[in-house]
Amino acid sequence: MNERYVIQSMYDYFKLAGKSAIVTGAANGIGAGIAETLSSLGVNVVACDIEDDALAEVARRLNEAGGTVTPLHCDIRRTEDIDRAVQTAVDSYGGVDILVNNAAGCGGGKKIDDIDDAEWDRLIELNLTCVYKFIMRVLPHMRAKKSGKIVNISSGAAITGDWSDPHYAAAKGGVISLGRELAVELAKDHIYINTIAPGLIRTRMVLPWESVEANNILVGRLGEPGDIGATTAFLASAASDFYTGQVLCPNGGSWMY
Ligand SMILES: NC(=O)c1ccc[n+]([C@@H]2O[C@H](COP(=O)([O-])OP(=O)(O)OC[C@H]3O[C@@H](n4cnc5c(N)ncnc54)[C@H](O)[C@@H]3O)[C@@H](O)[C@H]2O)c1
Repeated sequence: MNERYVIQSMYDYFKLAGKSAIVTGAANGIGAGIAETLSSLGVNVVACDIEDDALAEVARRLNEAGGTVTPLHCDIRRTEDIDRAVQTAVDSYGGVDILVNNAAGCGGGKKIDDIDDAEWDRLIELNLTCVYKFIMRVLPHMRAKKSGKIVNISSGAAITGDWSDPHYAAAKGGVISLGRELAVELAKDHIYINTIAPGLIRTRMVLPWESVEANNILVGRLGEPGDIGATTAFLASAASDFYTGQVLCPNGGSWMY
């Protein structure tokens, strides 16, 4: 079979080339993997993070490979930063077709007795409230076009329970519930919202005691950021137009949902 034909039909099937995306937390780990996958499929990306040097390096690498990636200092806790990210996508790429809410923080392995109110509020704000705030600020642009894809990154911790960080699990559970409710509200505007709840992915967020064995990963390896990039590309693309309100779990068979 002609390779060009295969590649062209894949592009047509996904219809991602020329789309505009915002990816949060794109300087490291899964977010960098998502930015790379989307960029390689022809998506113009506004890559947001607070780690400016790492972000610039990701953007440089992807742009050198032929992508169109704009690195932007954006602290998702600051509404003015969110507004600037949305405006950048509108000004540079003509709108926001895809929003990927990936940026988050972890608890570092705290038990419930180690958490005080301030620590609870910190993680709920970062991992849940900021997701809501970003969605609210892209919605007018998606509604105007009557189309949009929102992909939120949750976690297996929201589904299976975990040994620590109940505030992380609670925030990530909220991300799933928010996605389901908004899917119901937004379908009439052709805005589709789905959630990815990854298993163990090899990034700096992985805690020292995590392993293939401890997580019962049937395929025998940790996930890679590109595994989540591939799932995100699918959910951002026309190939998933019959999906909304769903939770996909790339986890190597670690648990079944
Ligand atoms: N690694 C895993 O095993 C795993 C499993 C399940 C879910 N997740 C989720 O995947 C996502 C990415 O995690 P990761 O493992 O790549 O971690 P990571 O720490 O490598 O990446 C997180 C990124 O978010 C950025 N970030 C943090 N706070 C920010 C803020 N206020 N504003 C903007 N950017 C900010 C960080 O600078 C970093 O670049 C998170 O939502 C995480 O909860 C990870």
